[in-house]
Amino acid sequence: MTWVESKIARRDVWADGLISLTVELAVPQFTPGQYLNVGLDLAGARVKRSYSLASGAGEPAQFYLSLVPGGALTPALFERDVGDKLWVDDRPLGFFTLQYVPEAQHLWLLATGTGLGPFVSMLKGKDIWQRFSRIVLAHGVRQTAHLGYADLLAGLAREHPEQFAYVPAITREAPPPWALEGRLPQLIQSGALEARARLPLVPEGSHVLLCGNPNMLSEVQAVLAERGLVKHRPRKPGHISVESYW
Ligand SMILES: Cc1cc2nc3c(=O)[nH]c(=O)nc-3n(C[C@H](O)[C@H](O)[C@H](O)COP(=O)(O)OP(=O)(O)OC[C@H]3O[C@@H](n4cnc5c(N)ncnc54)[C@H](O)[C@@H]3O)c2cc1C
Ligand SMILES: NC(=O)c1ccc[n+]([C@@H]2O[C@H](COP(=O)([O-])OP(=O)(O)OC[C@H]3O[C@@H](n4cnc5c(N)ncnc54)[C@H](OP(=O)(O)O)[C@@H]3O)[C@@H](O)[C@H]2O)c1
Repeated sequence: MTWVESKIARRDVWADGLISLTVELAVPQFTPGQYLNVGLDLAGARVKRSYSLASGAGEPAQFYLSLVPGGALTPALFERDVGDKLWVDDRPLGFFTLQYVPEAQHLWLLATGTGLGPFVSMLKGKDIWQRFSRIVLAHGVRQTAHLGYADLLAGLAREHPEQFAYVPAITREAPPPWALEGRLPQLIQSGALEARARLPLVPEGSHVLLCGNPNMLSEVQAVLAERGLVKHRPRKPGHISVESYW
């Protein structure tokens, strides 16, 4: 582990309690989907947490963060501004990457909240566009204002209309016409997600990546199990890979 002191270069506010922090450090080699440990020295001890990289290769490291009230790190992290320092362990970690996704034609990326971050990083790379004929990104959030990176993602959908579908889903207010209403497991069960993506979610040719709220991860896996999609393991290939944020 090598802790590097780095300065905050940008602080983008998406909504109250929802930001992206970009630090000066460009991580020399990482695979989209990996995370770094970030730390602050608070009351004499280094408090560290893991954060997925939302940046692309060669870019300064960017993290997509939500404020967890009462949390040990995020309340202090949210007080930091441009020019402030934080600690970054510059060794990328984790296996939630396309490298570990078996052969498939269709890739389903399902995120809640800041679980979107690794998918933003993957979509900024070349590999994903070369490997999959169809990519669906569904992002579940409480309110429309919590749809971070929406302009980037809607832009990608316009650029790749046949290959990429961006499907936001709102749970705590009426959604705009371009988003769905409800939680992801129910939207899969009802067929609404597939209808909006114009793609069936079936075991043949599909791989599903899930990231964010652990309850979403387990509920989506239960719904997909009814359709015959099972967790992917190195020694027992399947259709689902997960990254749980807590
Ligand atoms: C591999 C990995 C990658 C991660 N990447 C990101 C990321 O890119 N962006 C991001 O915002 N978070 C990410 N997290 C979560 C992050 O590491 C922290 O857990 C989170 O920021 C809360 O830290 P805290 O110290 O403020 O709260 P803590 O004191 O650690 O948490 C208090 C409690 O809040 C709950 N909790 C933790 N995280 C959340 C959350 N996001 N929403 C609701 N409840 C929560 C847990 O039950 C926890 O016990 C990731 C976690 C892992 C394991
Ligand atoms: N994101 C923000 O802008 C923001 C701002 C300030 C503070 N925070 C804090 O950050 C923490 C995380 O909040 P968050 O909104 O980012 O994440 P979250 O609570 O995980 O909610 C994100 C989305 O996941 C959905 N969800 C929750 N459980 C689910 C399940 N079992 N299956 C499927 N979907 C499920 C939520 O639906 P429901 O609405 O139905 O629960 C919501 O649409 C909280 O402590 C919050 O107070 C977040």
